[in-house]
Amino acid sequence: MKLFAIAAALTLVAGQASPPVSADYGVTAHTFDISQVVLDDSRFQQNQNRTLNYLKSVDLNRLLYNFRSNHRLSTQGASRNGGWDAPDFPFRTHMQGHFLSAWSQCWASLKDAECRNRATSFVAELQKCQNNNGAAGFAAGYLSGFPESNFNDLEAGRSSTVVYYALHKTMAGLLDVWRNIGDQNAKNVLLSMASWVDNRTARLSYQQMQTILGVEYGGMQDVLAEIYRQTGDAKWITVARRFDQESTNSWLASNNDRLNGNHANTNIPKWVGAAREYKATGTQRYQDIARNAWNMVVNAHTYAIGGNSQNEHFRPPNEISNYLTKDTAEHCNTYNMLKLTKELWTMSPSTSYMDFYERAVTNHILGAQDPGSSHGHGVGPVWGGGTWSTDYDSFWCCQGSGVEQNTRLMDAIYGYDDTSLFVNLYVPSTLSWSQKNVRVRQSGQVPVTDTVTLTVSGAATFDLRLRIPTWTSNAEIAVNGVRQSVAAAPGSYARISRAWAAGDTVTVRLPLGFYLIPANDNRNIAAIGYGPVVLIGNYGSSGVSAAPTMQLGTLRRTSTTSLAFTGTANGQSISLVPWYDGGASFNYVTYWAYSGTIPPGNGCTAKRYEQCGGSGFTGCKVCESGSTCQFSNEWYSQCL
Ligand SMILES: *[C@@H]1O[C@H](CO)[C@@H](O)[C@H](O)[C@H]1NC(C)=O
Ligand SMILES: *[C@@H]1O[C@H](CO)[C@@H](O)[C@H](O)[C@H]1NC(C)=O
Repeated sequence: MKLFAIAAALTLVAGQASPPVSADYGVTAHTFDISQVVLDDSRFQQNQNRTLNYLKSVDLNRLLYNFRSNHRLSTQGASRNGGWDAPDFPFRTHMQGHFLSAWSQCWASLKDAECRNRATSFVAELQKCQNNNGAAGFAAGYLSGFPESNFNDLEAGRSSTVVYYALHKTMAGLLDVWRNIGDQNAKNVLLSMASWVDNRTARLSYQQMQTILGVEYGGMQDVLAEIYRQTGDAKWITVARRFDQESTNSWLASNNDRLNGNHANTNIPKWVGAAREYKATGTQRYQDIARNAWNMVVNAHTYAIGGNSQNEHFRPPNEISNYLTKDTAEHCNTYNMLKLTKELWTMSPSTSYMDFYERAVTNHILGAQDPGSSHGHGVGPVWGGGTWSTDYDSFWCCQGSGVEQNTRLMDAIYGYDDTSLFVNLYVPSTLSWSQKNVRVRQSGQVPVTDTVTLTVSGAATFDLRLRIPTWTSNAEIAVNGVRQSVAAAPGSYARISRAWAAGDTVTVRLPLGFYLIPANDNRNIAAIGYGPVVLIGNYGSSGVSAAPTMQLGTLRRTSTTSLAFTGTANGQSISLVPWYDGGASFNYVTYWAYSGTIPPGNGCTAKRYEQCGGSGFTGCKVCESGSTCQFSNEWYSQCL
């Protein structure tokens, strides 16, 4: 069979300290390297700042304790950690890789020398551990806080902890220190670890390997495919592919949703790996796996805040209203879904990927951090327990992904291809598009206000492509104050082609309003959205057993300078705030029963959502005065 050739393109990653050397297949657009984007004042920056406080204060000797102890080096003077990094915790040292990534990202975006020094000195200490393997009785390259013999248990099919899961995190952290800082020690330690993985897995049969893959192994294919990308050495692709698990890949490749009952965060990193294996090899099946998995999760397993899973597991497709429990939406899943989303966007830069990205990052990610914690502590292993992490006694998986994600909030705000600059997210920030000698500053606090201003400095010709979110209607765009007549339908990129000059400003008005995000399985239960944020009702210390009935006609915004709202539910006046302010200090309602209609003039009106298709929810006709009807079946659209 003749296959269409897919061009592999090598795009220099501007700004990345150690750029990749091998070309990617099937990529048509790129997000900017995080070294090219800085956050400006916003809730995103507040989250980042809190995490930076923690990153700069955490005691490195404590974080090194288990590595040094395991590799037979002195731990003198260092205290032991508790929680998931306690010296007897089975997969201790899963956390440190997230710190390495976070420090390196802090350096990349902010050029913060303290972050860089923490990363490089930590790597130097890890290298000493690895170099002591002879004395510790470990094979060359091994590096972990638990003994190498744990892998014997895994390979022999004995009860085993998630050894590759923890190893993957250290490797991913070293990779980030290498590519974001250019640290050669990080490269050397990483390549030695990868050689150890190669050695360890090369001697196993395909069947033995498939058995091993039944135990959670993080994103081993992901990091190995990225090592190939960084080195160009095809050996690493061979090693990456040993981690392809056929028992799940088979039904994902044929687009058969068998997610029910699967542990979510065991699986999502494998799909990020599949996306990167596609980019490394051009093998279509990998892309199918990644894309099908994304579609399944986003369309049939995702709550209004962008998170998925209940008690860490996927449930039957579309079953949302039956699982509105306190242990939904594990944070790590969303952190990994953002990575997957970004990969897929680069292969097919559609706004639907960024609609999801915006919802997940603005709600679930921002809200997984306690705004009252100066160290940015976050959720427990799963959301809803009301327990925040601590400096040294938690180290849950989601604490690790939180530390990493809150230093990567500038990721995916902007993207580019040969002719275009994509504005994907409306987050105050400054882009340095060094390839074009252009800077773009974005200001405007959506959705506190509905207007964003982009100011260009430098001169260049390109298409500015502005994402028009599905939550708005009648978007307006002006250049230097002159209204542009460009197509700006919700769920598309509006395009302005121009020879841009220094000082040009673009204003984008994205009218705001309330809208409903119904549960897939029960349209009578819905969350309430306002712009990109999901609102919750504050019930203080009162318990709420069933979804209260919100009278939609009573919804009001009560401030023009903050996101404060009221509505009447079950006859009681309730204040509503963004989900990300929910925290652990009060009980809240995210999904409501409802009656009546949303007040006109708030964006989502009967005029806009004129007609539902069929008896079940299949979509809406979007009819705006003076424009033609367009069909929209976005997953969160709602007909009133
Ligand atoms: C974050 O910290 C920086 C540096 O201290 C400061 O300039 C900025 O105002 C802070 N941002 C927010 C939103 O607090
Ligand atoms: C591979 O593993 C074996 C057994 O642990 C060891 O003897 C050998 O030195 C290793 N080879 C490399 C290249 O690390």
